[in-house]
Amino acid sequence: MKRSDLRTESRKSLTPVWFGGWQASGWVTSRESRFTETLEHYLSLGGNAIDTAEGYGNGLSEKLIGQVLNSKEREDVFVATKFHHYRTSLSQIEKALDRSLKNLRTDYVDLLYQHWPAKERVSERVIESIISLREKGKVRNIGVSNWDQNVFQELFDPTLIDVIQNCYNLLWRKDESWFPNFQENGRPRYLAYSPLAQGLLAGRRELFQKVPSDHRSKNVLFDQSSAKDTLALLEKLDFISKEFRVPTATLSLAWVLSRPFVSGAIAGASSLGQVDENFAATSFLNSEATGLADKLFSRPIDLERPLKSMWEWHPRAE
Ligand SMILES: NC(=O)c1ccc[n+]([C@@H]2O[C@H](COP(=O)([O-])OP(=O)(O)OC[C@H]3O[C@@H](n4cnc5c(N)ncnc54)[C@H](OP(=O)(O)O)[C@@H]3O)[C@@H](O)[C@H]2O)c1
Repeated sequence: MKRSDLRTESRKSLTPVWFGGWQASGWVTSRESRFTETLEHYLSLGGNAIDTAEGYGNGLSEKLIGQVLNSKEREDVFVATKFHHYRTSLSQIEKALDRSLKNLRTDYVDLLYQHWPAKERVSERVIESIISLREKGKVRNIGVSNWDQNVFQELFDPTLIDVIQNCYNLLWRKDESWFPNFQENGRPRYLAYSPLAQGLLAGRRELFQKVPSDHRSKNVLFDQSSAKDTLALLEKLDFISKEFRVPTATLSLAWVLSRPFVSGAIAGASSLGQVDENFAATSFLNSEATGLADKLFSRPIDLERPLKSMWEWHPRAE
């Protein structure tokens, strides 16, 4: 299993497949009981790394996670949350964090991220704020999300960042153009979000026929104009997974985890079966299969519009 040097308070190393907390709200499949069941199931498989944000259902995801963790050993689980990009002063960030801590029923988070870069160039101030919250004992690690190399240039000392969380999957490989050269001695650690391209890389080609009326309706990968190219690739990916007798989701996640610069993949799931398939990527170590997937998607689909994210949204482009 791929190892990360991040650890829970009880010194356990983190499982490389993380539990994604966005599924608590805003998805057509969202249901509170289903969300808590999937989290319970993930933990029962030995998973110990959870990703959430104040923005996921306006605290709902954090609250449901807090409910589940209440009956577990807090020190054995690594919990990360995020604050909105428009919170740029220490007092704004601390107020949001205190709300998150209350929702999560804990007095510290293992990792606190700025969810997106602020519209203004205030990264230094934001990171200093997280550092002072770490000094107060409310935060263990410092994270940023959706940053590129230009945002890092705003920092006096980029090595202060423990973790970056960005979009990365077989269809969305933009960070390969800069991040591996930027990373030094494994820092910052890189976590991939949307590693299944919101279902497309999980053998769900039918999602093109009827794009769900949730976050995916705004995702450019689901755009009908690129559907033909994407479908051809996805069909071939399904062939590879059949050949190696592994679910497509497991193969896609195993490819993400096989990338040397990646520490972990944060996967969303809406059923226990999906959690099983996704968690199986922790032990699927077939370099022939991941190598074939890599080759198949080595020329990502041409989406060279001025994209800032899969949703064509970015605070600095508003
Ligand atoms: N930092 C950020 O800005 C940011 C942005 C996006 C996501 N994230 C984090 O990353 C997590 C994962 O990203 P994501 O939810 O966008 O995308 P994802 O993990 O690529 O896709 C999740 C969706 O794919 C489908 N799926 C998952 N496993 C499957 C399987 N084994 N078989 C078939 N279908 C499967 C499910 O769709 P159905 O629900 O339709 O079944 C699920 O909701 C989020 O929960 C969140 O914690 C962070």
